[in-house]
Amino acid sequence: MSIMVTTFLCVAFIVVAVLIVWKKRRTWFIRHALGQSGTSKNLLAGIDSKDFTDYFALTGVLPPKPLPDFDIDKALPRPYRPFRWKYHQTMSFQAMDPDWWLELECTYRERIAQRKRLYAQHGRNIIDMMPGSENACTELAEMVIQFLCVRYPNQFSLDSSGIFHNRILGRSFDTKGVKMPLELLLENVPEDFLLVQEDKETGLYHFCAGVSASAVGWNMSMKIGKALHDVHGPVPYYKEKLQHSMDRYFVKMPCEKPIQRGSWSLEVGQPLYMQADDIHWAARSVQDPNLDINDIYLRVDWQTLRRLPKSRAIVFNFKALFTPVIHFREEPFIPHLVGTVLREAEKPFMEYKSTFHIAHKVIPALEVWAQEQEEKGWVPKDWASRTLEENPFYPGWQLHHRY
Ligand code: HEM
Repeated sequence: MSIMVTTFLCVAFIVVAVLIVWKKRRTWFIRHALGQSGTSKNLLAGIDSKDFTDYFALTGVLPPKPLPDFDIDKALPRPYRPFRWKYHQTMSFQAMDPDWWLELECTYRERIAQRKRLYAQHGRNIIDMMPGSENACTELAEMVIQFLCVRYPNQFSLDSSGIFHNRILGRSFDTKGVKMPLELLLENVPEDFLLVQEDKETGLYHFCAGVSASAVGWNMSMKIGKALHDVHGPVPYYKEKLQHSMDRYFVKMPCEKPIQRGSWSLEVGQPLYMQADDIHWAARSVQDPNLDINDIYLRVDWQTLRRLPKSRAIVFNFKALFTPVIHFREEPFIPHLVGTVLREAEKPFMEYKSTFHIAHKVIPALEVWAQEQEEKGWVPKDWASRTLEENPFYPGWQLHHRY
């Protein structure tokens, strides 16, 4: 008996030791596997340029699974529903799945065109960079190109002379000595990219460069150069609940652990970029009795955060996705959950999100759909709202996703 116990303890000890070593050496293994075994070469087959750094090996973040038959016109985004209850101000992030750093879907062409129009109209409020951020911007553009070529090999490639081919738009871009890497991003990826770098004197992270065509209520010139706590000035409870943990997190964040999180709002129509002087801005503080529920949309800004390995800058990128709220009717638990948040969340949160202008139409509709879902047996009777296990999705969300 005692021999069995001793053997069991020895085996358990070895297993635990192997797991600890494995965890510690994980990055090394990934780098080694990618860099030495030729795996990297296979995955980077769509990238012919010898000058390119292998960012998968360098960061320790696995390359995404290639989608060789990807069809941009058929792709639907994942239905992100990042609703939490109880609703506290926390960093509320999860580990990022490396397949989904940049998610392309069927609004691609239209969004790129819209974002370029916004840049033509608003210039430095959309793209701006501070001296000292050049290397970070170039590095980011290289990482983005590499990701796109691996994830969507039938849509993007980089040839040996450094020309990046975008087959969705039928356009090519010279990446050699590129002077405006952020413009290259604007032309090819319908996402905002905000870069922060450490201030060597204070150790705090400052907003140093970005492409920002989906800002509502703020713009680049209001924020660039500022430290994270000043950038987040209007965010409820930032100082009390977030500032300390965010500042510490940014200092320590390793390259190999990118994260993701979501921010949401409910909007009339699909406002991508809106400023306080816009004619539609005032409508966000009144309740229009004639507002049609069919014109109200959920806007989710799906965000990821990762450190760039060479410059050590951190990039915060996100895409704005719009879904008609009437879709909630088919999404188990969502009407209950959103109804609770709109009715019961602390006032400062809902004021920051301007929910007043849609609440009179959305809350009654959610109550009807919640009741309907109980009657169908999708949701248990008297279910008490809570963050779903499937967060940021909902049970059965895969039925509403295509790629
Ligand atoms: C883990 C990292 C981060 C967290 C937890 C976070 C958290 C938040 C929260 C809670 C909000 C309010 C909207 C919402 O409910 O989501 C917000 C807004 C915002 N965040 Fe962040 N943030 C992060 C990183 C960043 C970074 C790196 C930047 C880059 C400069 C940034 C720029 C902004 C801006 C510009 C706003 C809008 C502020 C306004 O309304 O004036 N955030 N953030």
